[in-house]
Amino acid sequence: MIGGSTRTIRASRLMLAVALAVVVRPVPAICFPWSIDMYRGPEIQPYAKAPRVTPADTIPVHGGEPPMSLEQATIKMHNPLQPSPENLAKGKEQFTTYCAPCHGNSAQGNGPVAHILAKPPKNLVSGTSKDLPDGYIYGAIRDGVLSMPSYAEEMPAEQRWQVVMYIRSMQAEAAKAKVAGN
Ligand code: HEC
Repeated sequence: MIGGSTRTIRASRLMLAVALAVVVRPVPAICFPWSIDMYRGPEIQPYAKAPRVTPADTIPVHGGEPPMSLEQATIKMHNPLQPSPENLAKGKEQFTTYCAPCHGNSAQGNGPVAHILAKPPKNLVSGTSKDLPDGYIYGAIRDGVLSMPSYAEEMPAEQRWQVVMYIRSMQAEAAKAKVAGN
């Protein structure tokens, strides 16, 4: 019984020695200490290499609009929608939701948050946009203009044109009121 357990202990000591010999065998100096290899490895920083420049007129594979400067949009883009009460009503709805907080319900640049902006919102009924083509207002909504952010994410092309139509109708009303001497 005793002899048996001594043999077992010897056998397990032998196995331990073999295991240690395998694990702790001499390793080449370059591999050690492996625990800091990641730390010493070459660092790859995000944007260390400039991203590829997108070729002109590239659009996302799932569709999209070609990038266009505000100047280009002003010249090239024309309202494809026919004036109709529905389009005007939808334009008003979008304008009231997205534009009126800054530009005001009557688009005179006096919305409820206008006073906290570093740069005041423009008057859209008597300002520059009155004398410029539809594409200017469309481009301003799509890409933003100077300190005004883009609203492309909030409304698809059709709704932007409806907003353009609604702003035009407000401009026409304001012009009529002026002629009438109000
Ligand atoms: C967060 C406030 C804010 C919102 C919301 C906003 N705008 Fe503006 N908008 C501005 C400011 C500020 C300017 C003036 C930008 C500048 O000159 O730096 C401006 C300028 C413009 C201009 C150029 C006017 C000109 O005389 O040149 C147009 C057109 C315009 N906005 C239309 C819109 C429309 C349409 C919407 C709704 C989709 C809208 N804006 C929503 C702040 C806003």
